[in-house]
Amino acid sequence: PTSLDLAVVGGDGIGPEVVAEGLRVLRTVTQAEGVQVRTTDYALGAQRWHATGETLTDADLEALRGHDAILLGAIGDPSVPSGVLERGVLLPLRFALDHCVNLRPSTLYPGAQSPLDLPRVAPDGFDFVVVREGTEGPYVGNGGALRVGTPHEIATEVSVNTAFGVERVVRDAFARAQARPRRKLTLVHKHNVLVHAGHLWRRTVEAVAPEFPEVTVDYLHVDAATIFLTTDPARFDVIVTDNLFGDILTDLAAAVSGGIGLAASGNIDPSRTNPSMFEPVHGSAPDIAGQGKADPTAAILSVALLLRHVGLVQAAERVEAAVLADLTERGAAARSTPGSTPRSTQQVGEAITARLA
Ligand code: IPM
Ligand code: MN
Repeated sequence: PTSLDLAVVGGDGIGPEVVAEGLRVLRTVTQAEGVQVRTTDYALGAQRWHATGETLTDADLEALRGHDAILLGAIGDPSVPSGVLERGVLLPLRFALDHCVNLRPSTLYPGAQSPLDLPRVAPDGFDFVVVREGTEGPYVGNGGALRVGTPHEIATEVSVNTAFGVERVVRDAFARAQARPRRKLTLVHKHNVLVHAGHLWRRTVEAVAPEFPEVTVDYLHVDAATIFLTTDPARFDVIVTDNLFGDILTDLAAAVSGGIGLAASGNIDPSRTNPSMFEPVHGSAPDIAGQGKADPTAAILSVALLLRHVGLVQAAERVEAAVLADLTERGAAARSTPGSTPRSTQQVGEAITARLA
């Protein structure tokens, strides 16, 4: 492509700060490739809700649909009741735009501050990607509460799993596994207890597998998967799992690979009917908002995922290489001068941008 029409949702808390650095990197790398970038800001999140009572309107959605991709910072603020912005902005975006693939890579970068005893647990590092289903499961809001506030209250959250929804994400995960050197797919679920959804997932994987004969298929219950993520993360290549398990596993994956400040994600519509949306896995971190302390690396790596998705593969690779170099140097610096002042959000963005010039 020679142009890129981007929707930008800075959102809440540190969202706008990290997105600004993501855009700094994006502008530099696309300029070098002669790609025209146009950005349109969308005010979504806490401020908008306080001012107007609106979350995500039909008009917002229609406008967003017109872009090539969406870059999002974070949605969520303690001044808004829990769930209002999550259920009103972030999840409707993922659902309405058919973001069935929530792609969350987990790479151990050199110098990463992992809490694991790496020489023992992962002497050769690790590099896996979680394909988290993004439009179904317990996230759909199917459920209810009876006799609220009484000792006999009953609360249900029904996990919705459709053959269509499971198949499209499983197929995408197989294709990703096929394209990676190790060609291994691990289904994570809990089919010994969640028999209805679990068996749909298991049968779907079995049904799609013959189309990808080179991919080795493996299964883990989600509880066991958490053990392996901390004791043998290198065993994973591509993990496919449902929305809630994927939410939990990817926070764990972020922690073991050096922190939530590095974890990028893409909310992808594999059919390419709707724009895909790229966002750091971390949230709005209101406790450090406005202080220039947030690490923009996750947002910058999300920009790399965005560039690859829109076909600017070389630009994506350049951004990833710049981040890798920055992290390598940062790790070395942290080791040689422990306790030194960390760089500001802008300094990290500028350092990575400088490597692209
Ligand atoms: C994430 C977040 C969201 C999720 C919340 C904010 C709704 O935790 O992107 O992982 O649960 O998907
Ligand atoms: Mn999460």
